[in-house]
Amino acid sequence: MRKAFIAGNWKMNMTAKTGSEFIKQIAPLVKDADCDVAFCVPAILIPAMTEAAKGTNIAIGAENVHWEKSGAFTGEISSDMLKEYGVKYAIIGHSERRQYFGETDEGVNKRTLAALAAGITPIVCVGETLSQRKSGDTENVVRRQLEEGLKDIDDITKIVIAYEPVWAIGTGVVATDEQAEETIAFIRSEIGRIFCPKCAENIIIQYGGSMNASNCKGLMAQPDIDGGLIGGASLTLDFAKIVNYNK
Ligand code: 13P
Repeated sequence: MRKAFIAGNWKMNMTAKTGSEFIKQIAPLVKDADCDVAFCVPAILIPAMTEAAKGTNIAIGAENVHWEKSGAFTGEISSDMLKEYGVKYAIIGHSERRQYFGETDEGVNKRTLAALAAGITPIVCVGETLSQRKSGDTENVVRRQLEEGLKDIDDITKIVIAYEPVWAIGTGVVATDEQAEETIAFIRSEIGRIFCPKCAENIIIQYGGSMNASNCKGLMAQPDIDGGLIGGASLTLDFAKIVNYNK
């Protein structure tokens, strides 16, 4: 059985002060969750958020991680730096990184391997743009992102995949339950083909893109959807309703 996993992606929001206050407010509302719960936060907030989340069931993640342990990489953060604060997850290959900061499948692969080597669980994001979907390319795009981004991984079940259709991110246009399930089932079958059938059964695959307190139940009821990667709705106490989707 796969354990559900609901994670927030704060993107470039919150400050150490507002974030700590928020974690304190939401912690009692998510304490009885049956799923794993995390917030992935801007690097500079990690010390304060790990402190605020101490003694709760909330794990803290990063929004990216570099592939080298140290060196001349201005603006980047290494896995060692994250580990020092007990960071458990790192989002890798988010479409905003791909779109605005030139991240490639090759970079995604290097970052994913580095996170795994450090014992950080990568949340690897894949997903198609609207024009790719309209031209019937969704499966080709996602297949390429999986094949290129997940090369040379020994135990694929140690990563989490987030399927985030770019057209659904921050737009309020959520994928229908059927659209999300269809592509996530495809991703699972690709993991079976590229890695092993057992791996496909065990890997956690989240949906992300305008997921909120009203649409989470339907999405989470789909057989292949194991969780959510939540942007906007993870900045409000509504996030607790998503975490408690089954109550
Ligand atoms: P929204 O939930 O704001 O659409 O963002 C989704 C996302 O990008 C999570 O990584």
